[in-house]
Amino acid sequence: MLLEARQLRSGYSIGDVLQGISIAVAPGEIVGVLGRNGVGKTTLLRTLIGLLPVRDGSVFLYGRDVTTERAHSRARRGIGYVPQGRDIFPDMSVIDNLRMGQFIGATRATTANSPDFDLAYRYFPFLQQRKAQRGSTLSGGQQEMLAIARALVSQPEILLLDEPSDGVQPNIVNEIGDAILGLKAERQLTVLIVEQNIDLVQKIVDRAYVLDKGRVIRVLDVDDIRSTSRLAEFLAI
Ligand SMILES: Nc1ncnc2c1ncn2[C@@H]1O[C@H](COP(=O)(O)OP(=O)(O)OP(=O)(O)O)[C@@H](O)[C@H]1O
Ligand SMILES: [Mg+2]
Repeated sequence: MLLEARQLRSGYSIGDVLQGISIAVAPGEIVGVLGRNGVGKTTLLRTLIGLLPVRDGSVFLYGRDVTTERAHSRARRGIGYVPQGRDIFPDMSVIDNLRMGQFIGATRATTANSPDFDLAYRYFPFLQQRKAQRGSTLSGGQQEMLAIARALVSQPEILLLDEPSDGVQPNIVNEIGDAILGLKAERQLTVLIVEQNIDLVQKIVDRAYVLDKGRVIRVLDVDDIRSTSRLAEFLAI
């Protein structure tokens, strides 16, 4: 497995949010994390990347126990993260936002004219035309694409995406879906995606975990995902 969590518990001062979550993502898979608001989807991603401490259970990357490793060292091992709400640097230019991605992955063999910038530009060509523009001047969908491109620059093995469709117009959601599928085909990129948009889930997701109250309550296979009525039931819970 590329990424695995076993019996993960974590949370905030209010108490545990994740109540013992086990998930596994194989190389090349696009795995969904579904569930209604507040069930712990973002908490799960933040725990997997090391932004929130693990209270119990373990996280493995390529079989290596990284449970106590800090976020930056997990990033160097190849976890890319695109946070909910994107968190681009609004006052920085597009190119400087991308450079921050390069900085995050500084030891992952990137150089100033690295092909990784080319990769980001190839999948999201508007970024090249708008290199000098401030991040805040981009639309919500463009900011999301910038956030994904920023994560790509550090050459992740696995990309964790938190609701990339949120506040994004449907044609751009579709473009983001195409880019993810393209990266999977070209780079064998592995993806763990939190998503509530039924079209995007059906377009890209191979398998999905449904969360409720900090627990996995169901694993959906590709047939469950293709069935709009079955999928809608789990997106609505
Ligand atoms: N920084 C925080 N401090 C305290 N409690 C938090 C914090 N962030 C989230 N929570 C609480 O933890 C629980 C899970 O939140 P989380 O953000 O993981 O949910 P989510 O499934 O991502 O929801 P959404 O679909 O709204 O993004 C919620 O009850 C939330 O109020
Ligand atoms: Mg969330």
